[in-house]
Amino acid sequence: MNLPVIGAIDAPLMLENIPALQDEVRALAEERGAVILAHNYQLPEIQDVADYVGDSLGLSQRAAGTSAGTIVFCGVHFMAETASVLCPDKQVLIPDLDAGCSLADSITADQLCHWKASHPGAVVVMYVNTTAEVKAETDYCCTSANAVKVVEHIYRERGENTEILFGPDMFLGAYVEKTTGRRMHVWDGECHVHAGIRPDDIAAVRAEHPGGDFLIHPECGCSTSVMEYVASGDVESDGVHMLSTGGMLAYAREHADQHRTAIVATETGMLHGLRQAAPDTDFVAANEAAHCRYMKMITLTKLRDSLRDGVHEVKVPPHIADRARIPIQRMVAIS
Ligand code: 13P
Ligand code: SF4
Repeated sequence: MNLPVIGAIDAPLMLENIPALQDEVRALAEERGAVILAHNYQLPEIQDVADYVGDSLGLSQRAAGTSAGTIVFCGVHFMAETASVLCPDKQVLIPDLDAGCSLADSITADQLCHWKASHPGAVVVMYVNTTAEVKAETDYCCTSANAVKVVEHIYRERGENTEILFGPDMFLGAYVEKTTGRRMHVWDGECHVHAGIRPDDIAAVRAEHPGGDFLIHPECGCSTSVMEYVASGDVESDGVHMLSTGGMLAYAREHADQHRTAIVATETGMLHGLRQAAPDTDFVAANEAAHCRYMKMITLTKLRDSLRDGVHEVKVPPHIADRARIPIQRMVAIS
């Protein structure tokens, strides 16, 4: 697996310097006519200064709909590429070009072409956590928020026996297979952060917080075992929610007036937004070590520099972008 190289780490940011830097960021964004989009796993001080914070689907929709001339993407590289594909005439900036993704790195366009060649006629569904080159070889994109919907749409439109190549995340693939009750060909890629949240973590945190709800991202290594607990009647199905990061926020807003415990199986950056949305709910990380170092490469200082200096531009070449746009637009139309 080809993991991205980690760039220089900037000097630690003192808490007292955060408000002044945030003011500078907002002033520069206004001056440049830029919109700041941030993923739910970003550092709290980045989330708090962004125009919009959301999941991959929401971020793609915001990027597609913005009237701003510049989009500054506080997330990882494939997300900025998606914005560039959807908005070819806009300037798309990312504060650190090394903010990659181990899941996106788990399949290359060449590997996908070989896989397609061994299954002629199959429909290719790829998670948005892929490079633009992989998307250019894809029929439909999906995110964790709409993977089941996209696959069900394909069976409805193209027939029950359609052969589907699904990738690159094997845990999301297993979840979709379980939910639709149909087998697909699933690539064996994974996100190192989510795959690291194991069934043992769930067993330990369940013992400490009996009766807590579960909010589980379908990329997690524990997702299959939790579905098995539910199937065996060991865990109440009512309390188990398989959700995208945006779905977790919707859960928090819905239950904001209740004192509950919710065990959260995803990257720990998620806890900031959840606790803001429902301060009376006790959100507990299923695994405190679930930390994406690529997401955390985007710092407030780098965001300020990006806006001030117009760096680093992410531009997908038109011959790739024109083909990569089709599966993304199909996904957005279904969602
Ligand atoms: P969401 O689409 O649920 O935000 O998850 C994407 C992801 O894992 C980004 O790292
Ligand atoms: Fe990629 Fe995993 Fe990090 Fe998300 S959490 S950006 S899937 S490495």
